[in-house]
Amino acid sequence: MPTTTGMKGGGYYDANSREQRSASQAFLPWLETAVAELPEPSPHQQSWNLLDIGSSEGANAISTTEQLITWLRKRSELPVWAFFDDLPTNDFNQMFLNLFPAGKPVITANDIYTAAIGGSAFERLVPPASLHIATTFNAIGFFETRPAASLPGFILPMLPNLRAPRDGVQVSEDELIPFQKQAHQDLCHFYRARAAELVPGGKLLVQIFGRNETHSTGHGIIDVLSDALLDFVEADLLPRSFYEEFLFPASYRNTAELIAPIENEPDLTAAFRVDQLDARDVPVPFNDVFAENEDRAAWAKSYTGFLRAFTEPVLAAALPEYLPQENTVDKIYQRIDRLLQDHPDRYEFHFISIATLLTRL
Ligand SMILES: C[S@@+](CC[C@H](N)C(=O)[O-])C[C@H]1O[C@@H](n2cnc3c(N)ncnc32)[C@H](O)[C@@H]1O
Repeated sequence: MPTTTGMKGGGYYDANSREQRSASQAFLPWLETAVAELPEPSPHQQSWNLLDIGSSEGANAISTTEQLITWLRKRSELPVWAFFDDLPTNDFNQMFLNLFPAGKPVITANDIYTAAIGGSAFERLVPPASLHIATTFNAIGFFETRPAASLPGFILPMLPNLRAPRDGVQVSEDELIPFQKQAHQDLCHFYRARAAELVPGGKLLVQIFGRNETHSTGHGIIDVLSDALLDFVEADLLPRSFYEEFLFPASYRNTAELIAPIENEPDLTAAFRVDQLDARDVPVPFNDVFAENEDRAAWAKSYTGFLRAFTEPVLAAALPEYLPQENTVDKIYQRIDRLLQDHPDRYEFHFISIATLLTRL
């Protein structure tokens, strides 16, 4: 079973993911170079084939793909297949609305064919040696399956943030080992699937939310979610066992972890060359607005919307069926909004966008 059913649908993710777009755009210049370096199409090549993995409702993914198509068209006039993948439970209706607003294709260039694929990033998604460029943005930080190990003292497999201490939140280095092993295995599955799908000379851009020496993208967002859940536990609105069992199923990697499979697994070392690797502390639109207008309420609202878009499906699926109050999900996000307004420094948020660009050998 995948660890999420997708993002909050009905256009909510699209409306609350300018931060993810900023994290992706930081690496678009790599893609421009990648397109320029693609091998000359052979006389038998009928199309350029692109696949974006973990596209969600599509607004961000379609924008990146349009950019890629512009660069590809400088290379040749070949038709383009643009595939957008996400889990089968994703809101693909919204994706098609984005691809065909008012029934007309949003990508207006000639000879562009779009299609959606339902399937997991950690498995094969298209036939062998059929892709020229594969991309993934802000997606494969989610574990492939729910980790079996438990972590009763926190809701994320990461050492707690020293800037946001809280009684009852505790994680040891040893407890993290099984999660780190699984995160490595997941990446091996992802790279093996792409190694099979890409043509020789094909390019793979992998970007995820991660961490650097100073910050983790998990800081702030997971602290405020954890604090809100603990407030509910302390008010007897959620059982303590819920907090102990709940896990936000994501790994916030550093750059070394991102390419460890390529460096350490002989089949992957033979399959890929690492062209680029970097971690960037990218602009966060809701922080930039806050720095200008100092409007805490507006900042908390945008921050909560951003957080809710990717956490609500996981949280709602995990909540016990019978709870003492109605609309617990809404109330948890109201509590998050309140906490953010009251303690902006405690929940300071940095988006550490990490990425690598690989060439299929
Ligand atoms: C935060 S959204 C990113 C969407 C878009 N790429 C962007 O950058 O705005 C993460 C997406 O990854 C998808 N996802 C999570 N696990 C996945 C998996 N195993 N295979 C494919 N997609 C997955 C989720 O369903 C979700 O739509």
